[in-house]
Amino acid sequence: MTEASAARVPRHIAIVMDGNGRWAKARHRPRSFGHNAGRKAVREVIEGCMRQGVEALTLFAFSSENWNRPEDEVGALMELFIRALDKEVDELHGHGVRIRFVGDLAGFEQGLRQRMNQAMTHTAGNDKLLLNVAVNYGGRWDIVQAARKAAESVARGEFRADEIDEKVLGHWMCLADLPPLDLFIRTGGELRISNFLLWQAAYAELYFTDTLWPDFDQSSLALAIEDFARRERRFGRTGDQVALAKA
Ligand code: FPP
Repeated sequence: MTEASAARVPRHIAIVMDGNGRWAKARHRPRSFGHNAGRKAVREVIEGCMRQGVEALTLFAFSSENWNRPEDEVGALMELFIRALDKEVDELHGHGVRIRFVGDLAGFEQGLRQRMNQAMTHTAGNDKLLLNVAVNYGGRWDIVQAARKAAESVARGEFRADEIDEKVLGHWMCLADLPPLDLFIRTGGELRISNFLLWQAAYAELYFTDTLWPDFDQSSLALAIEDFARRERRFGRTGDQVALAKA
């Protein structure tokens, strides 16, 4: 495994962890077996990010649309989250990881919500890695909740409507206090963003791999980071302008 030079390491990585179901199917096992195996890959990327000096990692664990899956699969995922919270939080805390859940947490039953809040409070003082777990999250939901806050603040007379620009609205988006998203990874071979961080991914580099999520390990992460390090990020400028700015 190689390690990218510090200057080319993304500060913030987001991952759509896709392929658990297919991984399980290939082994003639239920889909929940694949989700369970996905937990090991979660540990691998957390470790890999810490080794490489990534500041923030955002994982798409459960989308707003995932409620539409068969009831037993949703149930198995909820069980898995509860078990993961009970088992992993202390260890993550010991490694200096700050955990944050992002999404519409009101959609979860009270016990799970309570565990999520406890994990956030317990690890709030850590800063080695900011681990965001997106649950009941959708990129459109995120934009809507920010727009709602903007409307409320206009109604309270704190802003005029014409003062609401990208910067102001951006403050109300999830993860606004974190480094901008640099690298967006999707495993499992699909070439879609699937309503993940729509606003935040505006200038992220996209990286797609056929590797199924349970097989994604630290070497796979290192490959993605190496690929990122080779990209020229222009943010709307020309290649010549970028070269001039670097000189
Ligand atoms: C997508 O694969 C994966 C999910 C909907 C769940 C992701 C959950 C985990 C990786 C469990 C561990 C997470 C934490 C934070 C403890 P899929 O089921 O859509 O796979 P398929 O495309 O092959 O059917």
